[in-house]
Amino acid sequence: MKKICVVGLGYIGLPTAAVFARAGYDIVGVDVNQQVVDKLNNGEVVIEEVGLPEVVKQVVADGKLIASTTPEEADVFIISVPTPIHDNCTANVDYVENATRAIIPYLKKGNIIIVESTIPPRTISDVVAPIIQENGFDPEQDVHLAHCPERVLPGRILIELIENTRIVGGLTPTATKKAADVYRAIVTGDIMETEAVTAEMSKLMENTFRDVNIALANELVKISAKLNVDAHKVIELANRHPRVNLHQPGPGVGGHCLAVDPYFIVEKAQEEALLIKLSRDINNSMPDFVVNQVNRLTIELCEPKIAVFGLTYKGNIDDVRESPALEIVEKLRSNSRFDIRVHDPHVRQEQVNMPLLSFEDALKGANLIVILTDHNEFKEMNSDEVTSLMSTPVVFDTKNCAQLDGEKLVHYRIGDLTNLRAIQE
Ligand SMILES: NC(=O)c1ccc[n+]([C@@H]2O[C@H](COP(=O)([O-])OP(=O)(O)OC[C@H]3O[C@@H](n4cnc5c(N)ncnc54)[C@H](O)[C@@H]3O)[C@@H](O)[C@H]2O)c1
Repeated sequence: MKKICVVGLGYIGLPTAAVFARAGYDIVGVDVNQQVVDKLNNGEVVIEEVGLPEVVKQVVADGKLIASTTPEEADVFIISVPTPIHDNCTANVDYVENATRAIIPYLKKGNIIIVESTIPPRTISDVVAPIIQENGFDPEQDVHLAHCPERVLPGRILIELIENTRIVGGLTPTATKKAADVYRAIVTGDIMETEAVTAEMSKLMENTFRDVNIALANELVKISAKLNVDAHKVIELANRHPRVNLHQPGPGVGGHCLAVDPYFIVEKAQEEALLIKLSRDINNSMPDFVVNQVNRLTIELCEPKIAVFGLTYKGNIDDVRESPALEIVEKLRSNSRFDIRVHDPHVRQEQVNMPLLSFEDALKGANLIVILTDHNEFKEMNSDEVTSLMSTPVVFDTKNCAQLDGEKLVHYRIGDLTNLRAIQE
């Protein structure tokens, strides 16, 4: 039975460690965050993911998963540390470099090293392999280096880790085969074998495809606002074409995948990646578009009370990284005229630097709700309750998710601002 050392115990590393542990592997999970390690050794998790607490509790109790701040010798090393961008939108691969250096003292010939972190093209060959080489190992002979990107959907991670098709790209054909065999122990989906750089680019293009298509939908929203057209209706009708699939617009693109990964390509091919860069710019402009609509709606009010619903970058998760909602709230709060009350049932107070209120407290006496995330709680809001709590029951729904109606209640959706009227007290 193999021993696996998983470095980085976040949204990707911890479920991966837990699933391998459940399959009978001995796992040492490594994280630089002492709190993550301590909690895990108590069988607790610090992230929200469906089914994860139960699996972690079990594998920790069984002694199959132990956490530590330092790596140990193992047969396989899986690196799942963050790969954010710098302020200038270039890739920060420092975490991958540090994690690689951290495993060097525990490395033995024949080990398999898999980077699951999303990485810019050529990171395995130009960043990871040289570190291995500097430390006396031949990266093509002594160890087996591979990239196996993750494509799980938060909220379904435990299912998708097993059922999704996986791409495994090795630095050498042997590395590809050995790394693919590691995943065969837990994956029921197909395992596609390729080279490292192709795996790197495939992952980046998956997220870029989505970012570019969301940019197209967001651009349609802006065009529709100008031409007085209902963009949601346009999308619904156009998508009845058998080969068209327009995406849904929104308040911007967040998370540390879609909002980040396209930049990894732009950095490496600036003159060629024009559409990719423009799409990033369009999606980055959506928070301003949302704030402008809030200004239009509240222009007649002295001190509008605005309930902002949702901070996470997508519905039913607790992840606020790169969330456009944070930028929107910051911009709204910088306007001293506004009284901003923020509510997100999935976010804990310590995650953000603004006060979080309950549903009732955020809504009491409010003039406007701005929905920024499609949590189920917002999809299922009761029209009568909303109307009775608010001073002027007006909703600006940037996710087109709420099912609200009623004589008094006005429900604007981001793609249909054709009848927008300023709120009157
Ligand atoms: N979250 C997703 O849905 C998702 C999906 C696909 C790909 N990815 C990619 O997977 C990678 C990890 O993402 P995540 O969401 O799990 O990140 P995360 O921030 O949730 O977790 C990363 C963990 O790594 C730890 N860490 C940082 N440096 C370390 C080091 N040198 N040694 C040990 N631990 C270290 C951090 O303390 C943290 O707990 C990223 O490259 C991301 O782009 C994420």
